[in-house]
Amino acid sequence: MKNNSAVSGFHKLKTEERLSALRNLLDLTDEEIKHISSSGAISLDKVDKLIENVIGVSEIPLGIATYFLINGKDYMIPMAIEEASVVAACSNGAKVARLSGGFTGYSTSPIMIGQIQILDLDSPDSAAIRILQNKDTILKAANEKSRTLRENGAGAKDIEIRIIGNEQRMLIVHLLVDVMDAMGANIVNSMCERVSPILEDMTGGRVNLRILSNLSMHRRSYASAVFRKEAIGGENGVDRIIEAYRFAELDMYRAATHNKGIMNGVDAVLLATLNDWRAVEAGAHAFASIGGYHSLTKYAKNSNGDLVGSIELPMAVGVLGGSTGVSPKATIAKKILNVESSGEFGYVLAAVGLAQNFSAIRALANEGIQKGHMKLHARNIAISAGSPDHLVQSVVDEMVKTGDISPSNAKRILGSMEKSNK
Ligand code: MEV
Repeated sequence: MKNNSAVSGFHKLKTEERLSALRNLLDLTDEEIKHISSSGAISLDKVDKLIENVIGVSEIPLGIATYFLINGKDYMIPMAIEEASVVAACSNGAKVARLSGGFTGYSTSPIMIGQIQILDLDSPDSAAIRILQNKDTILKAANEKSRTLRENGAGAKDIEIRIIGNEQRMLIVHLLVDVMDAMGANIVNSMCERVSPILEDMTGGRVNLRILSNLSMHRRSYASAVFRKEAIGGENGVDRIIEAYRFAELDMYRAATHNKGIMNGVDAVLLATLNDWRAVEAGAHAFASIGGYHSLTKYAKNSNGDLVGSIELPMAVGVLGGSTGVSPKATIAKKILNVESSGEFGYVLAAVGLAQNFSAIRALANEGIQKGHMKLHARNIAISAGSPDHLVQSVVDEMVKTGDISPSNAKRILGSMEKSNK
């Protein structure tokens, strides 16, 4: 870099000016500038209003997982992800579940938690009682923030109190808010800010943080499915999958990877529809850590010897508001997904996570993950090595044949193909 990164006023520049500053600073070529600033179905001007210091739109492959049947309804699942084999594995899990009627899904009411931290209290215990005695006043004030929720019988519904800390005891007020079909972060945060001065007056304490919790304990989604033993290697196949699951139950190192696989699917759908996947990630892992970090899925054998899989996780997702509408592609992805409520969206995501996890541990407990994964990954390697479209498959085939799926082998194969074409 010719200069340092402390570019004053970068945010005030127009997008083109920003790109030209970047070009000068980093010696980017015209072609690089053209690629990085291309924005697809959304105009760069619009993107510039969404986040700060915009220079373009990032690209991520968008695919469709098939075979999903959930509560008797068919779904085509849009997934945005860079990792090969996720969409295929997800579809495969749904295909096996479909043999026995697909997934069953359920979501609880969309209750989010807003947290208010109160400090400097003489007696947190008596402050807690005062808050509970005046619960109706607090809820009424919170509900001033949303007429829509209020008029629909939703909004702030209840209060939970927790006292935490030893040296510095603090009182944590949980505002429980029914956010209906929204994700709810904005309204919950607004409500927390609205009631904070009231809580200070009521308790004589000092409020510090006022923010939603991403551990949305009261807003959970569930999915389950039966995977027929005949489709997964008989009773022995079932046992191996249960052993794989037990590994994740007993060992946190394994559970982290097991749950990462679940979130491969969940996040990909959230990203395709431009939802806050970080919120769902945070909630999922916090939930998995309750009682010691463990698997988000469970597996057992039914009386028929088939495998029964289930998943439960917090699911703070909405179908109203949010960022989906700013992106034409995310809007179309949502149309493809065709979910009508946040609860339906939640259990569809849970089913995707279960399908993904089932396929991953089934492969791991049998042939291993690398065989299928590397075959698909080989395509990425061939493309990254610079293979033109018409040579990608030949480079992949040759890499698989030589048993060396690596960038250096792709380059070598490509080089010799180009040489022999001259
Ligand atoms: C890779 O992205 C995900 C897996 O590692 C998940 C798992 O191990 O269960 C295959």
